[in-house]
Parts: sequence; structure tokens; C-alpha cells
Amino acid sequence: MKESIENILNELEMQSSLEKSRKVDVMAENRMLAITKETGEMLNMILRLNNVKNMLEVGTSTGYSTIWCAEAISDNLGEIITIEQNPNKIKRAKENFQKSGLSDKISIKEGSAIKILEELNSQEKYQGFFNFVFIDADKENIIKYFDLIFPLVSINGIIVTDNMLYPEKYRPDMEKFSNYLKTNHRLRTITSPIGNGEEITIKIK
Ligand SMILES: C[S@@+](CC[C@H](N)C(=O)[O-])C[C@H]1O[C@@H](n2cnc3c(N)ncnc32)[C@H](O)[C@@H]1O
Repeated sequence: MKESIENILNELEMQSSLEKSRKVDVMAENRMLAITKETGEMLNMILRLNNVKNMLEVGTSTGYSTIWCAEAISDNLGEIITIEQNPNKIKRAKENFQKSGLSDKISIKEGSAIKILEELNSQEKYQGFFNFVFIDADKENIIKYFDLIFPLVSINGIIVTDNMLYPEKYRPDMEKFSNYLKTNHRLRTITSPIGNGEEITIKIK
């Protein structure tokens, strides 16, 4: 891994662990709420194994998960579109992407996820376009996000969803989501205990 990428990942991991241990006081809306390092490693591995080119992320925050993913597709002529609505986090994410040297692989769409996903849906180009999607925004809209994302995913494309198991306050929404996935015959899905619980879903024919 390039030194610039390793350095920024280390920096963000340190920030994240300070936030989680409440050693720094950060206003709720500005907390990173980042994936675990183990989840980052898993996403990176899935992207490499599948030679992913086009990726979509819902919930950039300050860019920790995006950088783990961009590192895997950087040799691959691929690109990530990532969605975030918090201007403060967008600014920090842009600075982090710059530091990592991966800015040219990442395009941030700023605004409400539902609105942006509807816009992507309205364009022919994006039908079946993404080989990989990572869902990590608010949990109340998770089923709505999934429905908007599904047509955008290629056959054999993968959707990973964070927070299936933790924090426990998300369980009711995530259980509804899990049951919803079971009603869709065009996918295979498993819940992995990695990190905060990662749902790994594959779209089939
Ligand atoms: C859990 S954090 C993402 C963490 C990030 N994936 C990482 O691991 O570094 C969720 C992010 O989704 C954003 N978000 C929540 N609801 C949103 C919405 N409706 N539209 C766009 N972004 C949203 C929040 O501002 C927050 O930064």
C-alpha cells in the first residue's frame, strides 16, 4: 500500500478510536462513525477479488471507508461515486482524499441520498452500472436505499451493508431490512459478523 494512503488511514483510525472512547468531544453530527479497520480490509479484498471498476457508496462521512475502497480500485481504471449531505464532513473528506493521493478516483455527490439515488436511476447510463455498492448512511431509509440501488447494480454485482449487528439501537431497522432481503429472489445474501455486522448481498439473474 502506498505510504500516503497508509498514513491517512492510520490518522483516521486514531481519530475514530478517540471519538469512540469519548476522549475527544465531537458534536454528534460531526462524528466520523467510521467502519472498523477489519471491515475496511474486507471491502478492499472483495473489490480486488472481483476486479471492481464502478463503485457507489452511500454515506461518505470523512472518507475512511472510501479510501479503503479506492485503494483497491486505483490500479483498475475504476471510479467511486460517494454520497454525503453534511458539508463539514464533505470538506474533511475532500482533504483526506487529497492527502491519500486518490482524489481522481473519487467523485462526491453532495446532498440527500434519496434525491441523488433517484437522479442516478433516471439516467440510462447507470442502469446495471455499479459492480459494487456500500450502504452506510442513516438506517431508517435502508429499504428505500436498497430499492433505489438494486436497478443500478450489475448482475453478479455486490452490495455490502454496514451495521447489521451493532450498534444495537439499529437492530429493529436492520432486522426489517434483513427480512426484506429474504423476499427478493434475485439475490443471495449472508450476514457476516465482521466489524459491526456486514450484509453481503449478490444480485443474481
Ligand atoms: C456511518 S457514517 C458513514 C461512515 C463512512 N462510511 C466511513 O466508514 O468512514 C454515515 C454518513 O451518512 C451521512 N448521511 C446520513 N443520512 C444521509 C442522507 N439522507 N443523505 C446523505 N448522507 C447521509 C451522514 O452525514 C454520515 O456522514
